[in-house]
Amino acid sequence: MLATIAAIREVALARVAAATSSEELEAIRVQYLGKKGELTGVLRGMGKLPPEERPRVGQMANQVREELERALQEAKEDLSRREQAERLRAEAIDVTLPGRPVSRGYRHPLYQTLNEIKAIFMGLGFDVAEGPEVESDYYNFEALNLPKEHPARDMQDSFYITEDVLLRTHTSPVQARVMEARRPQVPIRIIAPGKVYRRDDDATHSPMFFQVEGLLVDKRVTFGELKGTLMAFIKQMFGDQVRVRFRPSYFPFTEPSAEVDMSCVMCGGSGCRVCGHSGWLEILGCGMVHPRVLSMSGYDPEEVSGFAFGLGVDRVAMLKYGVDDLRLFYENDLRFLRQF
Ligand code: PHE
Repeated sequence: MLATIAAIREVALARVAAATSSEELEAIRVQYLGKKGELTGVLRGMGKLPPEERPRVGQMANQVREELERALQEAKEDLSRREQAERLRAEAIDVTLPGRPVSRGYRHPLYQTLNEIKAIFMGLGFDVAEGPEVESDYYNFEALNLPKEHPARDMQDSFYITEDVLLRTHTSPVQARVMEARRPQVPIRIIAPGKVYRRDDDATHSPMFFQVEGLLVDKRVTFGELKGTLMAFIKQMFGDQVRVRFRPSYFPFTEPSAEVDMSCVMCGGSGCRVCGHSGWLEILGCGMVHPRVLSMSGYDPEEVSGFAFGLGVDRVAMLKYGVDDLRLFYENDLRFLRQF
């Protein structure tokens, strides 16, 4: 009997030592210490032994049971420590790896340009005003000295919504709206940036584009101040080296009127494909506010005068970034936009 117990002990401890999982340890425990286990069986059979042998056999069986229980417990703890260490190793995160970049949005190049233009004029003392994109015929044309049958209406191919409502063809209606709202106060010193619409579509014209209107009304405003303001703007925008020229022109709402050219940013004025070999690029229209426009909006042309200008933002952006097709700005191709 003692020999049987010793043999069980030997085998059981060896199996515990060799076990590689908690399931295996549990199977060993059931096999030896469970209700039908081998060691349990020995203890049960003790009744058949002569009484004088019982104490020794019982003592040894109990010792082996305790020893086996301890060995199982230790092996279990050891295994779970190793399993945890293994899990931690497998789940380890390399904190030194570079992170995955989150791509952030940023401003469209046209809005970058618009913001730059705004910042320059705000630095010169102008406030920002706004007007609706869906505009009445009155503000878009009539109030700007363009009556119904005026031939100059054909200069701008318009998108009409009804006979009296259209998508504004320029930002100039904001001139009339601001004067009407502020009359008879002076000075007025505003810029009005925004979208405008014309039935045009080619490499240098988009059906929707951006303008910045400027309006200054005060006592004794001169053409010299108009020139000085626009020169200051162009030099801040494009640099000191650019040359600027004013060409006589015609707009119904200004008199006299001018168009402003700057020396070509591509060739520096020597002539290239971009400037049509003239060395000059047109960037805006301007003039002294027509007396009729002043009086229609509630100002006395004998008391005050003013200048106005309208600047093409898309044009400025094309020149500033050297982009030769305006449509690129509106196609939303990220390969193009990411360059700015
Ligand atoms: N509104 C004119 C245009 O879109 C530009 C302009 C504005 C001209 C103000 C003179 C004064 O062509």
